Amino acid sequence: MRVSDLRPGLVLSQPVRDVNGRLLMGSGMRLSDRAISVLKSWGVAAVAVQGERQPSLADAGDNIPEELAARAQDLAAGRLARNDLTHPFVQDVFRLCVPRIARMLEEGREVLRLPDDLPAERPGADLPPLDVQALVGCNRSLGAMPEVLAALSRAMDDPGTSPATAAAIIQTDPGLAARLLKLVNSALYGFPQRIDTITRAVTVIGVQQLSALALGMSVMDLFSHVPQDILDVRQFWRHSLACACAARALASALGMPNTERFFVAGLLHDVGLLLFIQCEPDRVRRALQEVRSVGASLVAAERKALGADHCQAGAALLSGWKLPPGLVEAARCHHEPSLCADERDAAIVHAADFLAEALALGSSGQSVLMPLDTAAFDRLGAPPGVADAVLTRVEDQFVQLEAIFLNGHGTS
Ligand SMILES: [Fe+2]
Ligand SMILES: [Fe+2]
Repeated sequence: MRVSDLRPGLVLSQPVRDVNGRLLMGSGMRLSDRAISVLKSWGVAAVAVQGERQPSLADAGDNIPEELAARAQDLAAGRLARNDLTHPFVQDVFRLCVPRIARMLEEGREVLRLPDDLPAERPGADLPPLDVQALVGCNRSLGAMPEVLAALSRAMDDPGTSPATAAAIIQTDPGLAARLLKLVNSALYGFPQRIDTITRAVTVIGVQQLSALALGMSVMDLFSHVPQDILDVRQFWRHSLACACAARALASALGMPNTERFFVAGLLHDVGLLLFIQCEPDRVRRALQEVRSVGASLVAAERKALGADHCQAGAALLSGWKLPPGLVEAARCHHEPSLCADERDAAIVHAADFLAEALALGSSGQSVLMPLDTAAFDRLGAPPGVADAVLTRVEDQFVQLEAIFLNGHGTS
């Protein structure tokens, strides 16, 4: 039920949680006037109350005609054709994505129909390999790292950074400081009292955590002028944001510390594609055309058209900026986590990326998804049903995060 429609006396049928799954209000709580105004002040859009059935992404297909559901199932199977459909996580994701695709069809939104015969994937570099390091220098605004980014990177990676130092860095960019305050005052963090200063925000969120969020926002700002005609940039950032939410939720479900670093790793994992678009627009256009027309994987099409893929480009960019190694490695290995020295961190971003792409929460331009590395996923030891739990958390957070993070990024 929408929070604006709540009245005192209604009882929560599901708990209200913050970004890390911390309980804000428990299931069974009877709402008072005060509790309703607290929910409003946090910016919570809707809650589940007893006596009312809450729709969710997972069951959005209940009222969808059989014929539409069958088409959605067919399309979902096509999108996951390179995956092991016997794997429990892949099966869960398949089950969750069918109703979403059905809903997209019902709303008349585009869902690509792919050929039945997919091309065999071979990293055929028909072109001389692209010099990824030189690529990073192609754009002056990207080549030189802004000072605030360097300082945030050090703050994120150095446990010895004081709250006063981190606050001073963030305050050098007033727009960034304002957006961070909006974020920490949202329901996602659920603080009972308003946080009015960055110094206070750093104290309550944590130096490394807030620096990580600030770093993610600052990198996004550097790409605010990416051409829109090659890729739907807003959908690209929606995908990145969904991956960020899912990575944080999965890391939290696995009991990992400092989950904000997973959020930022998810936010920046595909950033190499934007670098390609800025520096090699014609060749990226060709790669994306191949992805859409024959169902080639994005990485294979990029290697063919550019001689390098967005994983390499993203890693080169982030390491050129001397961002923390965890972010560089997540970008480099997000499609092949077992290549990463820290496989666990990379596998979390990899699984989150897979989930976000399969559920069509935004798009990074892929048509047929790259396969989930099931061995790396299994080594995470995730509990059964984790896909449903992660998706629920993404659903809870996505709309609010979109309003805060995507303002000014893409137009559609
Ligand atoms: Fe990717
Ligand atoms: Fe991605």
